[in-house]
Amino acid sequence: MNPTTSRLSRLEAIDGLAYGGDYNPDQWPEDVWAEDARLMREAGVNLVSLPVFSWPRLEPEPGRFDFSWLDRVLDVLWSQDIRVDLATGTATPPAWLIRAHPEILPVTADGVRLEFGSRQAYCPSSPVFREHALRLTEAMARRYGHHDAVVLWHVSNEYGDHVSRCYCAVSAGHFRRWLQHRYENLATLNDAWGTTCWGQHYTDWEQIEPPRRATGPINPTQRLDFERFSSDAMLELFRAEVELLRERTPQLPVTTNFMSLFRELNYWDFAAVEDIVTDDAYPDPADPVAHTDAALNYGLMRALKNGQPWLLLEQAPSAVSWRDVNVPKPPGRMRLGSLHAIAHGSDAAMFFQWRAARFGPEKFHSAMLGHRGVASRSYQECRDFGAELRRLAELKGSRVESRVGVVVDWDAWWGLDAPDSLPSARLDWLHLVRTWHRALYTLGFTVDPVRATGPFDGYDVVVAPNLYLIDDAVTAALAGYADQGGRLVVGPFSGVSDREDKIHPGGAPGPLRSLLGVSVDEWWPLPDGHEGRVKLGATTLGFTTWAEWIDAESADVIATYDDGPLAGRPAITTRRAGAGTATYVSAGLDEAALRQVLGPICRDAGLTPHDTPSLDVEQVTRYRDGDRWTFILNHGTVPARTDVPNGTDLLTGDTVSGPVTVAPAGALVVRHTRS
Ligand code: GAL
Repeated sequence: MNPTTSRLSRLEAIDGLAYGGDYNPDQWPEDVWAEDARLMREAGVNLVSLPVFSWPRLEPEPGRFDFSWLDRVLDVLWSQDIRVDLATGTATPPAWLIRAHPEILPVTADGVRLEFGSRQAYCPSSPVFREHALRLTEAMARRYGHHDAVVLWHVSNEYGDHVSRCYCAVSAGHFRRWLQHRYENLATLNDAWGTTCWGQHYTDWEQIEPPRRATGPINPTQRLDFERFSSDAMLELFRAEVELLRERTPQLPVTTNFMSLFRELNYWDFAAVEDIVTDDAYPDPADPVAHTDAALNYGLMRALKNGQPWLLLEQAPSAVSWRDVNVPKPPGRMRLGSLHAIAHGSDAAMFFQWRAARFGPEKFHSAMLGHRGVASRSYQECRDFGAELRRLAELKGSRVESRVGVVVDWDAWWGLDAPDSLPSARLDWLHLVRTWHRALYTLGFTVDPVRATGPFDGYDVVVAPNLYLIDDAVTAALAGYADQGGRLVVGPFSGVSDREDKIHPGGAPGPLRSLLGVSVDEWWPLPDGHEGRVKLGATTLGFTTWAEWIDAESADVIATYDDGPLAGRPAITTRRAGAGTATYVSAGLDEAALRQVLGPICRDAGLTPHDTPSLDVEQVTRYRDGDRWTFILNHGTVPARTDVPNGTDLLTGDTVSGPVTVAPAGALVVRHTRS
């Protein structure tokens, strides 16, 4: 057994799918703990996360640790057979550390040093912070690394949630070292950053600073490198804790909780360091399409480790407390949201948090046990769902089926997020990816995010909504995919720049030119409020934001611009590429338009898109060996009639087949009858 597999086997100690939440016992008098553990047990809780923000309680003075209270908490939990996702406690440095070393406090791009008084008040590059964090981690590992209740290390908490970029002098030094490692000498850096433009030439490393607020648009490559550096700086911190834990407790798996599709950190890199992916998901109950974006986020979580099951570590039982308007989840929606994550490969449904706080910034955040205690709706729904979840235990370890991939690339994301030096600030990477994903989702597909370099095998269709930055490795991977029979679809403003954000010689789509068979002459972004039309056969498609003047060189034109200055010019092209096809979409098509383009491509690839798109009813299948389970989820507000596979609904025990009616917020989990 390889070390990761053996560490992951520790999670088998959790009976069935993991259920529970963040637990903050240090916010409560000790006599509450026994009641907590008893009620947790009653609610079906088998895993809790703690002590996430308890550093000052664990180390009240430098180097003096007090674990007595945590010992007692773990004993109380263990007495009720509840397992622990043990936080290293390093997410927020204590006041004594900040006052002794105020330089730990992070600094914004405007030069403002952020004060103590909230959480995560540290500069990721600070060696002082790191030294103290590692000392606590080490002490935690010694004390609890072999405690029977502990099944998982939870390193820090949501890296980058409040502070993901620091512009202080220490960060500047770290940035310079990172640049020296990347470029080796100043001549290479000057060349990469194009410093001949606007007199930016550097003659000494010490002249280089983070992209703090400047007089005008900042060098885009300097900014891009700072994005990469900042993600790497946080990763370095994460890795330091992970390495220490691996040394001290090689038998325990390690994770850090992610924040879904989060711009600031390249999660492909983070996932490679940990044993299991965990995520915190907060779809807004007020947003009627939040579940489609959640499907994309959950897809990413399973994709980050090649389909390995992940854990939903946090969600809200009802309302959160950090939006302007915090709308609660109506009855049944917590259950549906939990099943949604499980459908997409999570082996857990966990919450923030167990007991509702009485004080602090999150006192209005919902909890499993609300302020009314067992009388609260959240408790009753959580308790009922805890019992129901036991019926899904057999799903643990199964994987999700997907034949469609969407390329998620942080470099492209960061490159496209330079609002003051692009043809349009309106071409939003995340919006593009979500729109393309939603088109596929509503056609009935479960979509896996994939790395720009692949692997793509197993996918009949791969879409890349935007690859603004592209290099030869990505080009070769995409070309190889099409060559082997894949259907590749590339979105607007792709293949524009190289990894140094220099426009490819000859213009876009750069190295993709022969694969796509097109050449871009000029960008034609649309002013705000304007819409354009594209003619695809007899159909007219709408678009906003973006259009391009392109020439089809070796590609067939399948759609042309229908109005405006580009009328009659190619808008969408396709060409045979090896055994597959490569399609280019040059306009900022809306979701309905994308369905018209992507539906036939999927059908051509042997997939079966819905004839009638559905935003509300989703089917996702998990499998293990010869077993398959299909989740049928109605996210909508009206009953939905839909076909289900022949089998047994695990939630009710009923035998099902053919069309069934699923109530609003209703769900089935059908174990397929083996044929
Ligand atoms: C997460 C965080 C938790 C809690 C929660 C509230 O971002 O990890 O500690 O603050 O949000 O929604």
